Amino acid sequence: MSGRRRLVIAVDGPAGAGKSTVAKRVAERLGLDYLDSGAMYRALAWKALKRGIDLRDEDQLTALLAKTSIVLDSDPQGRPRIRVDGQEVGEALRSPEVNAAVSLVAGFARVRAEMVARQREMAAAGGVVMDGRDIGTNVLPNADLKFFLTASLRARAERRWRELRDQGFAVDLETVAEEIAHRDQLDAGRAVGPLRQAPDAILIDTTDSDIETVVEELLRYCRPRVCRS
Ligand code: DC
Repeated sequence: MSGRRRLVIAVDGPAGAGKSTVAKRVAERLGLDYLDSGAMYRALAWKALKRGIDLRDEDQLTALLAKTSIVLDSDPQGRPRIRVDGQEVGEALRSPEVNAAVSLVAGFARVRAEMVARQREMAAAGGVVMDGRDIGTNVLPNADLKFFLTASLRARAERRWRELRDQGFAVDLETVAEEIAHRDQLDAGRAVGPLRQAPDAILIDTTDSDIETVVEELLRYCRPRVCRS
């Protein structure tokens, strides 16, 4: 296996900072796999909502997760894909209902322990870019490169609002901003796996940058590692 395949990159940050788009493009450009850890928490929230499970009940959520297969890979066109119990779920994971439920689900220690174990297993062979909230601090503390992407609340809300609008969800900007601010609080304030910048992560503020500029900035840090390996 070449050194290039083994590079491990962690990308963390709050909702709407551009993590997933940036991480996806960096993975593509370096020939690495993209792993969206947030999609795993979303998948559990989505399935729990479908089953009518009480989202405050850790026992039930943990039992549900134990019976749930979550596979992150790519479709034949190379686009990231997520399958839950063999069924491909796409935009349903980004619905306002899942947005509202996911922080609750992600706040439980036993849910997180199982997710983190699965994420480490997926990254074990290397060659991955994984994005999330606790990747550089907890899931992959030995990652070769760690980035922490941030942006103003306004910029993040506008991005999420555009995304939701393009997906056909009718929502107003203020509601999205409130929802993101609330989720920030839950993500940063929870006792287990809180959103934190790792001390060795490179901080990148994306407020005034377009995505491609941010991608190029990350690649400038990555390329020497790729070339050296
Ligand atoms: O990145 P995202 O918006 O798809 O993440 C969805 C939720 O999952 C978010 O509220 C925080 C949580 N999450 C987490 O707790 N840990 C991660 N590694 C990734 C996401």
